[in-house]
Amino acid sequence: MSLRIGVIGVGRIGRQHAQVVADQPAVGTLVLADADPALAAAAAAELGAAACPLDEVFGAVDGVVIATPTSTHAGLLVRAAEAGLPAFCEKPIALDVATTRAVIDAIDAAGAPVQIGFQRRFDAGYAAIRAAVAAGELGEVRRAHLLTCDPAPPPAQFVPTSGGIFKDCGIHDVDALRWVTGREVVEVMAWGANRGAAFFGAAGDADEAAALLRLDDGTLATLQLSRYNGAGYDVRLEVAGTRGTRVAGLDNHSALVSTEPGVAFPGGAPHPGFYPRFRAAYTAELAAFVRVAAGQIASPAPPAEALAALYVCEALARSRAEQRPVRVADVR
Ligand SMILES: NC(=O)c1ccc[n+]([C@@H]2O[C@H](COP(=O)([O-])OP(=O)(O)OC[C@H]3O[C@@H](n4cnc5c(N)ncnc54)[C@H](O)[C@@H]3O)[C@@H](O)[C@H]2O)c1
Repeated sequence: MSLRIGVIGVGRIGRQHAQVVADQPAVGTLVLADADPALAAAAAAELGAAACPLDEVFGAVDGVVIATPTSTHAGLLVRAAEAGLPAFCEKPIALDVATTRAVIDAIDAAGAPVQIGFQRRFDAGYAAIRAAVAAGELGEVRRAHLLTCDPAPPPAQFVPTSGGIFKDCGIHDVDALRWVTGREVVEVMAWGANRGAAFFGAAGDADEAAALLRLDDGTLATLQLSRYNGAGYDVRLEVAGTRGTRVAGLDNHSALVSTEPGVAFPGGAPHPGFYPRFRAAYTAELAAFVRVAAGQIASPAPPAEALAALYVCEALARSRAEQRPVRVADVR
């Protein structure tokens, strides 16, 4: 098999995704497109790929990877669907529920598979918690604690189009919580703070956030998000049940310092950012997408899952804005 895969958007994450796609044995042709043609040409030269005008990509490939800013995902996903192409798209599909639903309708009507970039589903630690929960090793799950803490904020121009801290960062935690526990979030209460650069507040966004989430079986979860975690990149999930607790993201590179005498763990340097921390997961999710595009497997992160996570993030954002608990059913 020799697939032709296009990568649209070769910025921060798209350039990395393009490298992973180039490394897949089943991919014979890699085509790169970007709103900035010079960026596509430079990446193509480095990867031995072909640069292509955006309008021509959809007719030149067997599948597309969409890694453009969030505000452009909806339009590009619809174009891929209309071309009958399997698509991998970075999260989220869109910043609002109505647009996300319309995109999913177009995808369903076209019938080509779509995989959303929830790479934590491919992380060994997160997957092990899911397996432990499913096997009953934790007993009855009662609590979860989730963190996504970036060491430094994204570029100022990224923030107004990001959808805000809950839809941009927290959507990974919400997807992981649903995927690992197999439960739905029914109610949330969220808070946000502006402690960093003024561009967060100017965009109506927060740079620190915390939330409580109640699941449909009574499990209580806490969520913390930060754009300014001085200790380094810290992404973890802790799930506790009546028989045990499991933690993902607690490795030798965790951005933590124990104050207990004689405890040297974790001793390694913190992960510097999202890509090094999740390199294996990003690689595995794109390897899976190549198999999706080849018709070998169903999408491991279908768009309906992204919509379910978006409902929760919408509820979180509304709760923060209105300073009241919000039921997820009220935003569906
Ligand atoms: N899964 C993750 O862990 C993760 C991490 C980072 C970013 N993301 C997501 O990836 C997406 C991209 O983020 P980024 O940080 O790489 O952004 P970026 O701004 O660094 O890169 C985006 C690229 O897309 C290009 N572009 C913009 N509009 C375009 C269009 N209409 N058509 C073609 N190219 C276009 C830009 O020129 C740029 O090169 C966002 O949706 C973000 O939420 C996901």
